[in-house]
Amino acid sequence: MHIFLLLNCFLFPVIGRYVETFEQTPLTQRFLDVHDEVNSYQEAANAIINLSVHGRARNQSYDRLATFVDKFGSRIAGSQNLENAIDYMLDELQRDGLDNVHGEDVTVPHWVRGEEYATMLEPRNHKLAMLGLGSSIATPEDGITAEVLVVRSFDELHQKAAQAKGKIIVFNQKWVSYGISVAYRSNGAVEAAKVGGVASLIRSVTPLSINSPHTGWQDYVDDMKKIPTACITVEDAEMMDRMQQRGHKIVVKLKMSAKTLPSVTSRNTIAEIKGSTYPEQIVLVSGHLDSWDVGQGAMDDGGGAFISWQALSLIKQLGLRPKRTIRLVMWTAEEEGGFGGNEYYNRHKKDIANYDMVLESDMGTFTALGMNFQGNPKTMEIMGSIVNLLKPINATALKKGEGGEDITLWMRAGVPGGSIMNANEKYFYFHHTDGDTMTVQDPVAMNLCSAVWAVVAYTVADLEEMLPR
Ligand SMILES: *[C@@H]1O[C@H](CO)[C@@H](O)[C@H](O)[C@H]1NC(C)=O
Ligand SMILES: *[C@@H]1O[C@H](CO)[C@@H](O)[C@H](O)[C@H]1NC(C)=O
Ligand SMILES: *[C@@H]1O[C@H](CO)[C@@H](O)[C@H](O)[C@H]1NC(C)=O
Ligand SMILES: [Zn+2]
Repeated sequence: MHIFLLLNCFLFPVIGRYVETFEQTPLTQRFLDVHDEVNSYQEAANAIINLSVHGRARNQSYDRLATFVDKFGSRIAGSQNLENAIDYMLDELQRDGLDNVHGEDVTVPHWVRGEEYATMLEPRNHKLAMLGLGSSIATPEDGITAEVLVVRSFDELHQKAAQAKGKIIVFNQKWVSYGISVAYRSNGAVEAAKVGGVASLIRSVTPLSINSPHTGWQDYVDDMKKIPTACITVEDAEMMDRMQQRGHKIVVKLKMSAKTLPSVTSRNTIAEIKGSTYPEQIVLVSGHLDSWDVGQGAMDDGGGAFISWQALSLIKQLGLRPKRTIRLVMWTAEEEGGFGGNEYYNRHKKDIANYDMVLESDMGTFTALGMNFQGNPKTMEIMGSIVNLLKPINATALKKGEGGEDITLWMRAGVPGGSIMNANEKYFYFHHTDGDTMTVQDPVAMNLCSAVWAVVAYTVADLEEMLPR
């Protein structure tokens, strides 16, 4: 997950079972018909659930993901490794018997981290765990050695502007939520440069740390000097804050050799189950295949990409063919700002009238609870009936929420869409760190998530009519 995704998930209040808020709405005949129609999918839903949770496809998405991430490791946009991983996926999807397997070219940024370190030299020598932020420039060859100014907010930085010139600015902002706190990662370098800072170090954007730096994309703006920027750990940011309060002078040496190389061509990875009756109409199921250049990208977003594959795979294994086409997209270069999603939208938006629903899982594949979804009131009612098909696995919750970065443009243009609701309280413990490995993933949870994804996609793709907008 990149920057914008959780804004709404975290800011929108939980409104509980969405269907309940519509109980007073008089039901139209059309809705009663659709409600009955949805209920007729219980048998298909049970077969999907049975196959994924108890049957021969049990642990399959986990096993496939483990094979993949153990083979390729992390997959940053611009790298040859990501392209090799995409080639592997195209082969696997073909071998799985899916239709129309192909890649679609996308021009993506190519940022490389290079060698980097940060050391506190005063008041004592201490190596800081750090990671450069995506798109950061390098320091000079000899690094930057400078006194530190610790601030806890942008406001405090502006109040202390007079003391900031020539310093390395350390942001020790508290964790509020990803959507709010990520502003320090996105804009820290620009704000530090405005007051004459020579580098910016942000406290990692996470509610929990075991001395783990959490990287992520950051943005420079035109007309503002670019300064090197990295994240440090919660522990070190708090320590330097305490040292400053005691009146100690803090000096840090920062060395980074990050580079932005020319853009390269990557691909969105696509496969389908072709619809039997309205093949031109699309239900899109997705996750992103790229990751940060640390850990294994197993959680962000290997899990989301592989339950999306699994949704098609389960439907295929059961010999089901819905009326509409179910299209899997494994996006590229999400982490740099949704490059794959944007390119796909521009290429396909002329067909928007045929897009029935868009789904993206990029907020974890922990134990499935139901769906976060957005659509008009009728569509929310229909989705309420669909999640009821998931009673056998208790994944019947429905709440208003966003999808993911890569499907934002479709949803903004009015296509119903959403994401899987899962028990992801620990998502940001691992997000964009070396700790994002297969060890975070759980096979049983992935079985449940795959079943939710498949039941929702199959039912919507097979209803008589498209979801109302
Ligand atoms: C569940 O799966 C088992 C074995 O895979 C099969 O024997 C059984 O008939 C299935 N039950 C349902 C309700 O689909
Ligand atoms: C699936 O994974 C669970 C949890 O690790 C394990 O207990 C179970 O034996 C596995 N089942 C199969 C069929 O591999
Ligand atoms: C669903 O919840 C019920 C009641 O809390 C529980 O008894 C049951 O085991 C749960 N089923 C699954 C598949 O988690
Ligand atoms: Zn992601």
